[in-house]
Amino acid sequence: MGVHTEILDGFTPAAIGRAVAALKKGEVVAFPTETVYGLGADAFNSIGVARIFEMKKRPRFDPLIIHIGHKEWLPSLTKDVPAQAQRLIDRFWPGPLTIILEKKSIIPDIVTAGLPTVAIRMPSHPVALNLINDLERPVAAPSANPFGYMSPTTASHVARMFQGRLSLVLDGGACRFGLESTIVAIKDQQVFVRRYGAVSLEELRALLGEVREKGKNETIDSPGQLPYHYAPHAPLTIIRTVEEVKTSTSSLLLFRSPLKMPALRHVRILSQTGDLREAAANFFSYLIDLDREDVDMIYAEQMPEIGLGRAMMERLKKAARKRHQPTSAVTD
Ligand code: TXA
Ligand code: MG
Repeated sequence: MGVHTEILDGFTPAAIGRAVAALKKGEVVAFPTETVYGLGADAFNSIGVARIFEMKKRPRFDPLIIHIGHKEWLPSLTKDVPAQAQRLIDRFWPGPLTIILEKKSIIPDIVTAGLPTVAIRMPSHPVALNLINDLERPVAAPSANPFGYMSPTTASHVARMFQGRLSLVLDGGACRFGLESTIVAIKDQQVFVRRYGAVSLEELRALLGEVREKGKNETIDSPGQLPYHYAPHAPLTIIRTVEEVKTSTSSLLLFRSPLKMPALRHVRILSQTGDLREAAANFFSYLIDLDREDVDMIYAEQMPEIGLGRAMMERLKKAARKRHQPTSAVTD
């Protein structure tokens, strides 16, 4: 039922032209970035942006990231750019880092859920850049998954998740990083990590020196920080060794090659050699594969909480916590 979801090769000018025309009409299109796929609308078109919230079933109090095509667009969108933000931009843009800055009134309130700040990044994926630059406006886009579910890293994931409700997906191949962008905020010249992601804490510290991690008891100022985000439908348990796997009807996400392969039908190994970057690129894609109807538990092997391992473990812990939430609190 509903609309037919078309997947077009995003590297062709014709596909970009179709997507730009749709955005200009206030429609929503899915597009690739180097992190995960996004569900985009013209950031200046409140109706288009409202459609994103409806399609994702995302609460209106959860603000969106806007994606720009040139660093030079920044002064027209934000009030000022602190020195640390400028250093981060010089080093990581275009790329998987989102910075929260004070917004100008040109950005509709629906994008930022009424907050005085806006989350901005310049993606590096050529298809994303072509789309944004041909539109000549910033594109507001959350990850292209139903609210609370895992982020898609291929065009076919997106098409499956929004079948019948989305008309166009630009295919830009599998996402290089496979994890969402890292989000930072700057307050009184201090840099705070708001979400672990594709740029590691170690990389941020190498550039800036001190970078604060978000405190455990900090107030939730971005709803994406709710504990049940990024969750598969099946319950998930984090394990230290494969011996902890209980039933044959479960699936297993291994960080690296095990000494002995357990006898399960659905097993994925993130990286044979335990390489965190390779693991991250496969992470959501494998988890989505393992989240099957015939599976009643997903076991996930823990990995070292360094580099990109920190971002993956944060997502696994949130997924593991989901089954302890009352179902009414979980909005997939
Ligand atoms: O890699 C990414 O960042 C992907 C691609 C598509 O760019 N996008 C993405 O968007 O992950 P989304 O909406 O799934 O996650 C954005 C997070 C949410 O947790 C939201 O609450 C937070 O950013 N956020 C957005 N604007 C904010 C603001 N002004 N202040 C604090 N948090 C904000
Ligand atoms: Mg998301």
